[in-house]
Amino acid sequence: MPNPVIQLNNVSFLRKDKRILHDICWRIEPGQHWALLGANSSGKTSLLRIITGYEWPSRGTVNVLGNEFGRCAISGLRKHIGYVSSALNTKLPENDSATDIVLSGIDATIGLHRHYSADEHKQAFESMQKMSVQQCKDQTYSILSQGERQRILIARAIINHPEILILDESCAGLDPAARNHFLNDLQILTSHDNAPTIIFVTHHIEEISPWITNVFILKQGVCQASGKTHDLLTSETLSDAFGCKCSVTKENRRYYLQVSEQART
Ligand SMILES: Nc1ncnc2c1ncn2[C@@H]1O[C@H](COP(=O)(O)OP(=O)(O)OP(=O)(O)O)[C@@H](O)[C@H]1O
Ligand SMILES: [Mg+2]
Repeated sequence: MPNPVIQLNNVSFLRKDKRILHDICWRIEPGQHWALLGANSSGKTSLLRIITGYEWPSRGTVNVLGNEFGRCAISGLRKHIGYVSSALNTKLPENDSATDIVLSGIDATIGLHRHYSADEHKQAFESMQKMSVQQCKDQTYSILSQGERQRILIARAIINHPEILILDESCAGLDPAARNHFLNDLQILTSHDNAPTIIFVTHHIEEISPWITNVFILKQGVCQASGKTHDLLTSETLSDAFGCKCSVTKENRRYYLQVSEQART
């Protein structure tokens, strides 16, 4: 069996006596791409912050790319993980150009703190090309549309050719056409040689494209289900996850969800 990309064993996370995650076990194999689902506050972002070493579990072990947390340098490991979250958006320097933002991914810094070579600029341009935003390269990041900004953040996240790419609600704020385009770009990205393993957080199952092989569902900090996409995206599982009557349909390899009842009390 190949070494897992990520392995969490019995991970629990408590803050101020509040149980945020409880006894999470998750093994991600090479070649898989996962969707992480769960209602608001179910613990998705907390789990990703543990995987990226920004939070430390209260119990359990975390192994990422063969490195056991507690026995490795997290800062070096982070260069192999691209992480895009909405929290990042608010921290970036307002007047930086799109190219500056992408370049800052090389050292995983907020802002640029050194001179970047012509080769590094070329790398940034290629990364923007992969996400179809090269035309924005000289524009000020803060004036870009939300869709363009999301793509620039992903270009930043993939500039070092990471082995893992984590996208926490990256489709939020995209119009239907932009979202479709963006999902197609991700599909192209996953088809490249040495494509990163993707963890894709979403509240919308129609964003779960055929390249997403597996699904992990959190409910109140506990793993409610984990397995193959086609086994888990069912009316029954999602009704349980979201606490309301959900009806799931599938058409042209895409999933659709209809909520047909108010949340259960
Ligand atoms: N450092 C912390 N201290 C205290 N509570 C925290 C901390 N981090 C997260 N929480 C709480 O843990 C719960 C889970 O938060 P988290 O952001 O992981 O949820 P989520 O599933 O990502 O939700 P959403 O879908 O709304 O993004 C929330 O109730 C949040 O307030
Ligand atoms: Mg979240």
